[in-house]
Amino acid sequence: MQIRLLEESVGLPLFEQLGKRIYLTEAGREMQYYGQAVATQLREAETVFEQMKGLEHGELRIAVASTANYFATQLLSRFCQQHTRIDVRLEVTNRAELLQALEQNRLDLAIMGQPPEGHDLDAASFMENPLVLIASPRHPLAGQAAIPLQRLAEETLILREPGSGTRSATERFFQAHGVAPRSGLVMNTNEAIKQAVQADMGLAVVSLHTVTLELQASRLVLLDATGFPLHRHWFVVHRRLKRLSPVAQAFKKFLLAEGPALVGQADGPAR
Ligand code: PGA
Repeated sequence: MQIRLLEESVGLPLFEQLGKRIYLTEAGREMQYYGQAVATQLREAETVFEQMKGLEHGELRIAVASTANYFATQLLSRFCQQHTRIDVRLEVTNRAELLQALEQNRLDLAIMGQPPEGHDLDAASFMENPLVLIASPRHPLAGQAAIPLQRLAEETLILREPGSGTRSATERFFQAHGVAPRSGLVMNTNEAIKQAVQADMGLAVVSLHTVTLELQASRLVLLDATGFPLHRHWFVVHRRLKRLSPVAQAFKKFLLAEGPALVGQADGPAR
């Protein structure tokens, strides 16, 4: 009934039925696009009214790079203890997907590596993200000091999937130094990579945040190769013109204030 009324007011069919399935027509897809945009605007209007009423509740829609999830949930937990009336929608995905979600205005905030220029994003750095070279404790290079980069050309490097920020930083580093370790092993989670390194399948470059426990348990070691750790940072990112809700503003402020203190905890044992 609602759909018929909608189609009558638009003057075009919005759905078509082929066999047992129903599909959106081209007009239907346009309607979906504008419907979502209107819903987003209305949500923004609601948060503005809440702000005027001085309330601090509502929904926080955030997405974090899969690598950032190792610390982001701790921060989120502390934030939620201080702000008990908020609802949280958390998405964990890689860098490429995060950029797309920001582009489509599906998020209040994202936690990710430095975003590229030209996407009209506001990005504030709040924490270091050292990328370290990990190996199994049985690896012949384990425990060696000042390993020359060139030596890594003889090793197999396990890489994250295309679209991962860790992967692109690693590739940029090796390219800049003219060293090409063997690759060909690609895995789409940090967990899979850590397991593979522990199983002697190769070396990998990962964020220090992801390996704290394995280093403590001596299941993995850091290799002391020239140029490591690579220096990266975590950024809290939103669309430049986005009107942040009071909750999102509070969370951004919280990250900028509390993030730096977490680095010490993520450092873990030296090697
Ligand atoms: P990712 O995150 O490797 O999990 O994509 C890191 C980043 O954005 O730099």
